[in-house]
Amino acid sequence: MAGTGTGDGTVGWDEGGEWHTAGWRSESGARPPRRVAVADDRMAADIAYKLVCEGTALLWRGDYHGARQLLAALGRRVDRKPPKQGATPRESFHLYRQARSRRARVLGMLLVPLETAPGGSYTVPLRRAPEVGEACAEAYGPSSGPVGALTLVSLRELQGVIGAHEWRRKGVPVEALDGARVHPFHGVFSPVRGEYVDLVARAPLPPAPDGGPGRLVAFDIGTGTGVLAAVLARRGVGRVTATDLGERALACARENLTRLGAADVVDVVRADLYPDEAAGRADIVVCNPPWLPAKPTSVLEQAVYDPDSRMLRGFLDGLAEHLTPAGEGWLILSDLAEHLGLRPRDELLGWIAGAGLVVAGRLEARPRHGRATDPAAPLHAARAAETTALWRLRRADTA
Ligand SMILES: C[S@@+](CC[C@H](N)C(=O)[O-])C[C@H]1O[C@@H](n2cnc3c(N)ncnc32)[C@H](O)[C@@H]1O
Repeated sequence: MAGTGTGDGTVGWDEGGEWHTAGWRSESGARPPRRVAVADDRMAADIAYKLVCEGTALLWRGDYHGARQLLAALGRRVDRKPPKQGATPRESFHLYRQARSRRARVLGMLLVPLETAPGGSYTVPLRRAPEVGEACAEAYGPSSGPVGALTLVSLRELQGVIGAHEWRRKGVPVEALDGARVHPFHGVFSPVRGEYVDLVARAPLPPAPDGGPGRLVAFDIGTGTGVLAAVLARRGVGRVTATDLGERALACARENLTRLGAADVVDVVRADLYPDEAAGRADIVVCNPPWLPAKPTSVLEQAVYDPDSRMLRGFLDGLAEHLTPAGEGWLILSDLAEHLGLRPRDELLGWIAGAGLVVAGRLEARPRHGRATDPAAPLHAARAAETTALWRLRRADTA
């Protein structure tokens, strides 16, 4: 039976002749579905696929594992139609993103109920459902609804929340920290691809004011998990100010830096790019902005997509006035945007020069992630050519 979403953060549906409503939850900001039908293990995957493609969300009432199987079956059906190749890498990239966004929309139509449990916790009231209390509390905060209050969430999102909880629990080993682990929170950029972190461990430190790296001051702009601030602290930098705008990133960085024993050296502060004047100037300013100039379509994409290169340009424009005379800005940037025709190298060089900066050197790393070597992966040619670099930038007036 199909119902109609109310469009104000609640969803309504008809079930056994009765009208039901529930709250709507979507981390990616997806709107509540307009039509909801109840489904269980008896529904054939082809019928389910037809319904979700037509815009009817399916509220699962069967066995939790059955829902997982159906999601996998829907995924196989979406993937039968691979993204089209464009005439240029740029066009292929846009077609690829369109296909990903359609995939996310279609797979996001399989919904499961999430119920408020005592103590603001959460449960999934389905047979054989996993424990989701801790994972959901980490991602969503404690539930504010009364016990038994129902929200609907896509199974795909819930799986992401559960996966993020596992990553946070286990942590990611970081070679540059002698294998110590960094624990990413849900929605905070994870250093799983560690090659960029090695660059920060390898780059030569600028001369310390009067001997000893303990006198060096650094800023880490957009600190995420705090991993680069931790590497700088491990290298003996005496004082690091790490900034971010995201509340989750700030909490995550603080927790990691405490765990890594670097909390005495690193100050984590909320700031739009640079810390305020009280932090003074820095000998090293490191920044790893999102590397593709395009609009993110979800919170999770914000670490990858930087609309109009806003963060990159903001970092470059403010750098000279935040550096000591012999200081260096360390910009970490993949050149994937160049290979995709999204941002030519000359444009980047123009912004660097326009910000009163010169390039003192570049350290490069080849990606270690699987997609670079998998010829079947979308956008293979661009990904195979991708290099991540640490650009060492100095003030033009003192270089
Ligand atoms: C690609 S992630 C890098 C995180 C971390 N530095 C690392 O290398 O793993 C970019 C980070 O910049 C943060 N960010 C985005 N815009 C920002 C801004 N205007 N000011 C401060 N941080 C920002 C994001 O929240 C995110 O944590």
